[in-house]
Amino acid sequence: MELRYYFKPNTIYCGDNLKVLKSFPDECVDLIYIDPPFFSGKNYDLVFGDKYAIRAFQDTFEGKKETYLSFMEDRIREMHRILKPTGSFYLHCDWHANAHLRVLCDKIFGENNYRNEIIWRIGWLSGYKTKKVGWIRNHDTIHYYVKSKDFTFNKEYIPYKDDYVRRDGKKPTGKGLPIEDTWNCSRGDILNSIAIMSFSKEKLGYPTQKPESLLKRIIKASSNEGDIVADFFCGCGTTLAVAQKLNRQWIGIDVSPIGCTVMAKRIGYKLKDVQGMKYSLKQAHELDWMDFQKWTIKAIDGIPLTKKGADKGVDGWQNNNKFNESVPIEVKQHTIGRPDVQKFNTVIEREKKKGGFMIAFKISKPAIVEIKRLKRETKRDLIFISFDELMDKGILMRKGATKPDNVQMLF
Ligand SMILES: C[S@@+](CC[C@H](N)C(=O)[O-])C[C@H]1O[C@@H](n2cnc3c(N)ncnc32)[C@H](O)[C@@H]1O
Repeated sequence: MELRYYFKPNTIYCGDNLKVLKSFPDECVDLIYIDPPFFSGKNYDLVFGDKYAIRAFQDTFEGKKETYLSFMEDRIREMHRILKPTGSFYLHCDWHANAHLRVLCDKIFGENNYRNEIIWRIGWLSGYKTKKVGWIRNHDTIHYYVKSKDFTFNKEYIPYKDDYVRRDGKKPTGKGLPIEDTWNCSRGDILNSIAIMSFSKEKLGYPTQKPESLLKRIIKASSNEGDIVADFFCGCGTTLAVAQKLNRQWIGIDVSPIGCTVMAKRIGYKLKDVQGMKYSLKQAHELDWMDFQKWTIKAIDGIPLTKKGADKGVDGWQNNNKFNESVPIEVKQHTIGRPDVQKFNTVIEREKKKGGFMIAFKISKPAIVEIKRLKRETKRDLIFISFDELMDKGILMRKGATKPDNVQMLF
């Protein structure tokens, strides 16, 4: 199936950003912030509580810097094309590739349009990191470019502390200390990474999630209310959430259905509102069945089992339902037939439960008839949830989050 994307502000796109970007018109966004894979050679997992992890994205590029840089070049060229002449571009990276990306962006934006190399200090250090021999790495780099001399910039200040006095001993006048290009590096400028704050309320379990305060600074400085702010590697949607709070329009793209699920919930969107989501998830289930299975179980607020086959015929458990007890969940890759229903019924009987959930793309007519018969004759309630229904009504739950009303509609 060939999917066509169309440009619409306040939209989340699930798919490869190159393909989505190519469908966008020239000069249509005011500000771009990107936080792409850093060429770190790592895999990143979305972690639920302590036990459950789903692979969110990979940052390996087969270990080849050329592959990484050509991936970035194709995309940054498109971003330059769709940026308005008054627009700004922020590229978040670190020591792995910052020098290479600077050379690349100089080529695309022009050296004269390079405004700043922003150093973002990650925050205070503790534990094993402090034991490193040599200087401890503790900053990311944000390359800041504009498209022309006529760019939007709202100068920002750090308010003076009450005890602040000028060198001549007088109290200061004015708005405060103008912000420099070294962030989170001085007493008054607190902009810590949430990675170092174990109890941050912002944390959604998404790896590499950036703090809202960082995005707030960039968006306030380089856009105005009503402008379109874009993030084409938007992870769990930090840029979009902040843009929305600051009354900007926004555009977000991420290739990971896991990321798009988390960000849709964060923005208050349903999964069916995410352009390309259905298509990406179908692809994901073909690629990695275990991750897809865990995703679907989490999408109905269930708990996936960690070891495959540890509990025969049960892929996960659901505690929050009309049965008022923990019931089994089974996820099937194929269309559910009558024998599947009968097998699952045996599992429910064995577990002495009142019912359970079966999730699959489709269900056959004989299977539906069998579910009805079992309900009539045994009172056991086997609830079938189709993938399409999940897309429309399902929602990813986070540990400690309050249960949204629309989950109720499923059960
Ligand atoms: C470092 S994370 C971004 C985190 C984000 N700043 C946040 O606060 O949540 C990089 C993201 O780029 C996404 N990504 C990688 N390759 C992509 C591609 N070709 N198209 C779209 N997104 C991609 C990954 O899925 C991942 O979510």
